[in-house]
Order: sequence, then structure tokens, then C-alpha cells
Amino acid sequence: MSRPVALITGASRGIGRAIAEALSPSHHLLIGGRDAAAVAEVVAACESAEPFVVELTDADAVAAAVADITRLDVVVHSAGVIAYGPLATTDPAEWERVLAVNVIAPATLTRLLLPALRAASGLVVFINSGAGLTASPGWSVYAASKFALTALADSLRAEERGIRVTSVHPGRVATDMQAELHQLEGRDYDPSKYLQPAAVAQVVKTVVDLGTSGVVPSVRVTP
Ligand SMILES: NC(=O)c1ccc[n+]([C@@H]2O[C@H](COP(=O)([O-])OP(=O)(O)OC[C@H]3O[C@@H](n4cnc5c(N)ncnc54)[C@H](OP(=O)(O)O)[C@@H]3O)[C@@H](O)[C@H]2O)c1
Repeated sequence: MSRPVALITGASRGIGRAIAEALSPSHHLLIGGRDAAAVAEVVAACESAEPFVVELTDADAVAAAVADITRLDVVVHSAGVIAYGPLATTDPAEWERVLAVNVIAPATLTRLLLPALRAASGLVVFINSGAGLTASPGWSVYAASKFALTALADSLRAEERGIRVTSVHPGRVATDMQAELHQLEGRDYDPSKYLQPAAVAQVVKTVVDLGTSGVVPSVRVTP
């Protein structure tokens, strides 16, 4: 296969899907998601792609899904979940739900892919958040998960000198997650007020296109 290979988690919808569209002309894509039909639709819309359908919190399933990947140029971790509400009403199950998807899953997937990434002098992109840099009232769980992701990226960058690691910190983006967040916040949702997923995808594409000629440790994108 002559194209470089990129695995994108959360590519069935939202920001991940926009990243798949942006990288489609240049890469062979592994399209991540849990809904096989939604993933198949994205695969069909890409120039060269195949499905990567797996529940990312199931470590055994993830290990099986990556078993045949021996060389990988790019992994973009876009899969994630939102949480909103005061610490006073947040139970341990909510912490576990969010940290499992937003922190432990990308850590596990990255660990399993390290040999393939090393083989390609590859790039790891974490779709983080403004909430991975500053925390506000109501954001304890989500911000804690994204601060942890910032730390994971920084540690990985220092540990793996042959791999480039980028944290992308978008502000609010018009996706299903943003609609869900507005419901949790109890306010009306106007998608036109926010970043479009394609804008975040353009930033990721710029980082990917830079190749080995430079490293972008982190980048902030705001509406
Ligand atoms: N939207 C924003 O305003 C915003 C702002 C800053 C940062 N972010 C971050 O950007 C990333 C993408 O967000 P988005 O807005 O595109 O979200 P989204 O539209 O809700 O899409 C979430 C994606 O993650 C996948 N996913 C969720 N849990 C999963 C699991 N356990 N296993 C496998 N896949 C899973 C979903 O797959 P299914 O289709 O199978 O559910 C879907 O593809 C997230 O990390 C989010 O925290 C979002």
C-alpha cells in the first residue's frame, strides 16, 4: 500500500469524521467508531479506507483490532464523551465512565500502537479541549479528563523521541456533543455560533502535512 496510513478514532461523527474527510485525499484511513453502519458510510465516502469498529473501553477488543497493524503513520484520538455538572452531584460511576473513554482508552490504544508508530516515525494527535487547559464551574469531570490527556501527551512526547505528539485544544465545536452539552447546560443550541468540525480538521491536516520537518506540541483553536 503506497499511501501513508492513519487511524482516526471517533470518525463516525463530528470532529473525527471531518478529520477523515480532510485526510482522505492523502492517506489510507482506518475509520473508528462503534456503529458499524455509520462507520461503513464514512468508509464509502473516503478515497481509501477500511472500518475500525471497536468499543474503545474494551482493552481486549482493542488489542485484537490492532493485532495486524505493524506500521502506522498517524493516529488521531478523537473519540470522547462529555460530562457537565457540579462535583457535589457527580458520583463515582460518572468519573469512571468519562475517564475510561477520554483517558484510559487513548492511553491503551497508543500503548498497543507504539511498535507500529515507532516503525513509521509516526504522529499521535490527541483531540483535547480548551477544558484541558482551564477548568470552570461544572466542568470538574470533563476538564479533569482533558487535563489528564494533556499530561498523557506531554509524557508520551518526552518518552518517545522518535514519535511526534500533538495536543489539539478546540473551543466549542458544532457537533452532536455540543448539542448534548447544551441540553445538560439547559440552554438553546445555535450551531452557527461555534467552530465547524472542518476548521479543527484543517488544523489536524496542517500538523499531519508538516511531516517530520517539525513538531507542533499543542495548538489552541477557538470559535
Ligand atoms: N464538540 C466540541 O465542542 C468539542 C470541543 C473540544 C473538544 N472536543 C473533543 O473532540 C472529540 C470529538 O468530539 P465530537 O464533538 O466530534 O463528539 P461526537 O460528535 O459526540 O462524536 C464522538 C465520537 O466518539 C466516538 N466514541 C464515543 N465513545 C466511544 C467508545 N467508548 N468507543 C469508541 N468510540 C467512541 C463516537 O462513536 P459512536 O458513533 O460509535 O458513538 C463518535 O464517533 C472529543 O474528544 C471531544 O472531547 C469536542
